[in-house]
Amino acid sequence: MRQSPLVVVANRLPVDDGVALDGACEWRRSPGGLVGALHPILKKTPAVWVGWAGGSGPAPAVPDIDGVRMHAVPLSDEDMRDHYEGFANATLWPLYHDAVEQPVYHRRWWEAYQRVNQRFAEAAAEAAEPGAVVWVQDYHLQLVPGLLRALRPDLRIGFFLHVPFPPPELFMQLPRRAELLLGMLGADLVGFQRAQAAHNFAQLAAKVLKLPATDRRIAVDDRMVRIGAFPVSIDMAEMEALSRRPEVVQRARRLRADLGDPQHVILSIDRMDYTKGIEQRLKAYSELIANGHIKVRDTVMVQVAVPSRERVEQYQVLRERVEREVGRINGEFGRVGEPAIHYLTQPFDRTELAALYRIADIMAVTPLRDGMNLVAKEYVAARVDDAGALLLSEFAGAAAEFTQAYLVNPHDLEGLKLTLMHALQATPTDVTDRMRSMRDHLRTYDIRAWARAYLTALDQTGALADRLA
Ligand code: G6P
Repeated sequence: MRQSPLVVVANRLPVDDGVALDGACEWRRSPGGLVGALHPILKKTPAVWVGWAGGSGPAPAVPDIDGVRMHAVPLSDEDMRDHYEGFANATLWPLYHDAVEQPVYHRRWWEAYQRVNQRFAEAAAEAAEPGAVVWVQDYHLQLVPGLLRALRPDLRIGFFLHVPFPPPELFMQLPRRAELLLGMLGADLVGFQRAQAAHNFAQLAAKVLKLPATDRRIAVDDRMVRIGAFPVSIDMAEMEALSRRPEVVQRARRLRADLGDPQHVILSIDRMDYTKGIEQRLKAYSELIANGHIKVRDTVMVQVAVPSRERVEQYQVLRERVEREVGRINGEFGRVGEPAIHYLTQPFDRTELAALYRIADIMAVTPLRDGMNLVAKEYVAARVDDAGALLLSEFAGAAAEFTQAYLVNPHDLEGLKLTLMHALQATPTDVTDRMRSMRDHLRTYDIRAWARAYLTALDQTGALADRLA
């Protein structure tokens, strides 16, 4: 196998296989922010991406994408159940998101987590040329840095966590907490979305592993592991260019007309996930209609909730609850041809997404907890007209940067209603001032700035960062 100077290791490849209308195998962009963030910067680097192609069984041959080689790691049904659905998404995911759903602990899941992490570490070791940089992503693969260092001590290893890293009170619940911390500490640089997460990690290293730790470095054996915050971003130029395309502008006009040319469009786009605050948002909206503050004739809500992790019980329960509530709201407040909520569960292509962003007078991004939330950043990037109000949860990583958004605590129903009304009634000048300042910020801290900052910190020669797209 040809080896590369840069290896990205993530649970998912940037594509997974679907079936096209003619029955042929078709590679589609994978869900979630991680893939959207990382893929664009690799286009000009001779890189390999190690990841799972979705589905079970032998690893498929995945074609190169924009010059990036794809190295698929196979998962069996049991791996999918116990590693992906189990330890990653029923133990770590809820725990790392403030335990808004109860994390589940099973010993069998831990065994699968170790086994799958070992397989990813071996694949990365195989793909990396001598002295290469290997950049491991996210909570599915926290043991990979340590396992990889044991296999290939010559590598520069980075780890980046896209989701929140919880405070010690929560993390201490984990039966295998020491192993998970040690796994991450196999890296030379451990990156987080927010400074608070790096602080939590340092506290835990000191408490659980008794290591000398500050919020910037942790001493492990004879090595110094650096830690820090590197808030992830998006390809602003790409989204701006897309949003300006004539077919997007035309589609936006059409969409608005199809919605009945309302005064206000409120848009939310989420994976169907209990961390996203979908139910709280629906409740706020429905109360505002019920008490007459919002008239369905003037204001429409579009909720896109793309099903996710559908075999995990908490996700099935959530979907049922959301659909029942949407049905209730439409039944109670909608009229023929005038639903109160336009509810869509299909994943949309980028053109349609950009058109939706363009018509959203209010973009409501109100997760209960979120590592970053790149939908918020995409919305800001798409608003080349400097219009549109971003209603943003204080508990999304993006809130640390978008201080000019209409910030809300999504647990505070009255506050959520008030801020939504405030955004709906804001003067165009207020909306534009805020949007301009967020766009200025995003222009400076786009995806390239993120990758450059991280990779320069990891590979101090700067050589790798210079080769990025
Ligand atoms: C979040 C995670 C990603 C994950 C994505 C989609 O953004 O940080 O690692 O890929 O959700 O979730 P899925 O389970 O479909 O990969």
